[in-house]
Amino acid sequence: MSMGATSMDVLVSLSKRRGFVFQSSEIYGGTGSCWDYGPLGVELKNNIKRVWWRDFVQQRADMVGIDASILMHPTVWKASGHLDHFTDPMVDCRECKRRFRADHVDALPWTHYCAATKGNKFTIPAGEACGHCGLRRTLCPECGKGELTAPRQFNLMFKTFMGPVEEDAAVTYLRPETAQAMFVNFDNVLQSMRLKLPFGIAQAGRSFRNEITPGNFIFRTREFEQMEIEFFVNPNDRVDGRPADEYWHDRWIEDCMAWFLRYGLAADNLRLREHEKDELAHYAKRTVDIEYKFPIGWSELMGIANRTDFDLKQHSKWSGKSLTYFDDERKEHVVPFVVEPAAGVDRALLAFMADAYREEEVRGEKRVVLKLHPELAPIKVAVLPLLKKRDDIVRTAHAIRADLAKQWRVVYDDTAAIGRLYRRQDEVGTPYCVTVDVQTVGDSERGETGDQRVTIRERNSMEQARVPIAELALVIRELLDGAPWPQVAGRYPSPRS
Ligand code: GAP
Repeated sequence: MSMGATSMDVLVSLSKRRGFVFQSSEIYGGTGSCWDYGPLGVELKNNIKRVWWRDFVQQRADMVGIDASILMHPTVWKASGHLDHFTDPMVDCRECKRRFRADHVDALPWTHYCAATKGNKFTIPAGEACGHCGLRRTLCPECGKGELTAPRQFNLMFKTFMGPVEEDAAVTYLRPETAQAMFVNFDNVLQSMRLKLPFGIAQAGRSFRNEITPGNFIFRTREFEQMEIEFFVNPNDRVDGRPADEYWHDRWIEDCMAWFLRYGLAADNLRLREHEKDELAHYAKRTVDIEYKFPIGWSELMGIANRTDFDLKQHSKWSGKSLTYFDDERKEHVVPFVVEPAAGVDRALLAFMADAYREEEVRGEKRVVLKLHPELAPIKVAVLPLLKKRDDIVRTAHAIRADLAKQWRVVYDDTAAIGRLYRRQDEVGTPYCVTVDVQTVGDSERGETGDQRVTIRERNSMEQARVPIAELALVIRELLDGAPWPQVAGRYPSPRS
């Protein structure tokens, strides 16, 4: 039986308790909106990036990857439009000095000192009027006292200085998206890899935005990771009777949606949202977001934009270098159009955790289980000795861990009774536990050698099977490669009860 929907508080608390995500610099009081991935968080995050890279780069003949530097030539940001357009309107409270995004203020609950109730303080839900005096919010939503300034544009790029002198000529920026490195390296990649259109360049890495209102855990932070693809197409080509850029835009929307479903997000928690004409970015012809039903409500998980030839033309103009492709068939140079699937690693991680989280009742007790896709699970196997006082059991368990750890992240744990150990692994999403018991090793004093089998327990069904140690690595491989548990377990006996 499953109980209740996941709240952000539950995920924040699980993340801290079990080593997924910690507040950055916590012992100093924390750094606003910065988070550190702990021992399990880093595994989960690496797994997300690894399967993304494998599925979208390694396995495709039309994709290559790069890993560019975060600091780029400052003119990149002039050409891309970030210096002029990458701004949010902000308002400041004249009293408490807090800063808000002008377009987010009305989406906040607001503090109100109500004259109709002798100045009593109320917190009123976002967008609603006071039930006593009927007034709507005009003052600061946080302190309820200060007037807000008129909106001013605020550039979201982090500015820094290259080299030892802090002067205007040395100003540079931490990249606010990974995308631009794919555009400025377009010709390097094209020439060095002898590519033919259509082809894509992928990159996963850090981006930085001085967000005015970061928050909601790792959903919106000032330092985050992106997984972006720039997929270049010949604008003169037609595919299935449609312009190539429009065809590939739809293909990428489908492929990205299928990718999130494949790694476990529920179809009911995913939807597409078409950007209205007036919200399109300055470079985009069409943008579709994949939205996920986060604990904070439906919000953007990733965006897939048709950026046309805007970026290559801009960089060509500002650098003076030609960024074209020679179309052999038509004997002409063209500026490719680009389709950009842009995902956030941290948001994907939050979605995968939220979707996987379950509270179940098992034999009258609460079981918390993260039903993560096995490929994403931070720990693939936990090896657990049934009796930690028996040297032979412990030795065998350590040897099994060491053997399996050649291929996967595998842990050994003997710090509690077996039921407790299973629950600990369920809570962090470990798909398989392997238990070594007396039956495995036998009793040497009685001359027994044991059956040299271990019990594998599957996380979701909690079913068990006795598998020979000699076949264990192959069985785990089969399961992690997607073989259904009943099919694999059906080949082996159940443990004696
Ligand atoms: N190159 C296009 C681009 O950067 P975006 O929609 O601004 O597009 C892409 O960002 C994805 O990056 C978003 O869908 C989101 O998942 C992630 N992202 C953007 N800003 C973020 C932030 N402040 N914190 C965490 N993730 C963020």
